[in-house]
Amino acid sequence: MQYTDPDIESSYHTGTIGKTLYEQVLKLKPQKIVEIGTLHGYTTVIMAMALDELGEGHINAYDLFEEYPYKHPTFEGTTKNIERYGLSKYVTLAKKDLDSWLANPEDFDMLYFDISNTGDTVDAVYASVKDRIKKGAIVLFEGGSKERDQVEWISKYNKRPIGEAKAPYTVIDSSFPSLSMLG
Ligand SMILES: C[S@@+](CC[C@H](N)C(=O)[O-])C[C@H]1O[C@@H](n2cnc3c(N)ncnc32)[C@H](O)[C@@H]1O
Repeated sequence: MQYTDPDIESSYHTGTIGKTLYEQVLKLKPQKIVEIGTLHGYTTVIMAMALDELGEGHINAYDLFEEYPYKHPTFEGTTKNIERYGLSKYVTLAKKDLDSWLANPEDFDMLYFDISNTGDTVDAVYASVKDRIKKGAIVLFEGGSKERDQVEWISKYNKRPIGEAKAPYTVIDSSFPSLSMLG
């Protein structure tokens, strides 16, 4: 399926990180993608569009759904959004917390994490998957730019900016909120 900006609630419509994510999947041709922090399915649908274009691959997409105490998706709503694009065969949606996934990470060719990331999130993911990165797996995440670190909630809730993470990363799309590659 060719890229179109999905008609799914997300704060990423104004930038280009969706298109960049789509292009990364086309380029890297991952058989197995893991996404953590799917919300209403905007980035999930984008990666599934690219898998459909490639004709193969699968996404295991996780979120806390109704258990997330702040603004959260519903499992049913996200499922319906993916169905609406005819992409359900590329996606398995499940409720899972990042920390429990990191404690026992499954195999993946590409990981995309997007849970309102902070410097702590980036360091925790890197510590858990750096060996996979060395073996060629790709890890992308939301954030990483200076502008993204200035969002109000980082200072308001005393969170560590991503720029202070010890883990190495490169910003691959600086349009707000930005997209980065770990390692
Ligand atoms: C910024 S949103 C993700 C945006 C989304 N990828 C999109 O396409 O618009 C963050 C999501 O992470 C989920 N989340 C927050 N903490 C989490 C955790 N520890 N484990 C799994 N999901 C989490 C929230 O429920 C929320 O849906």
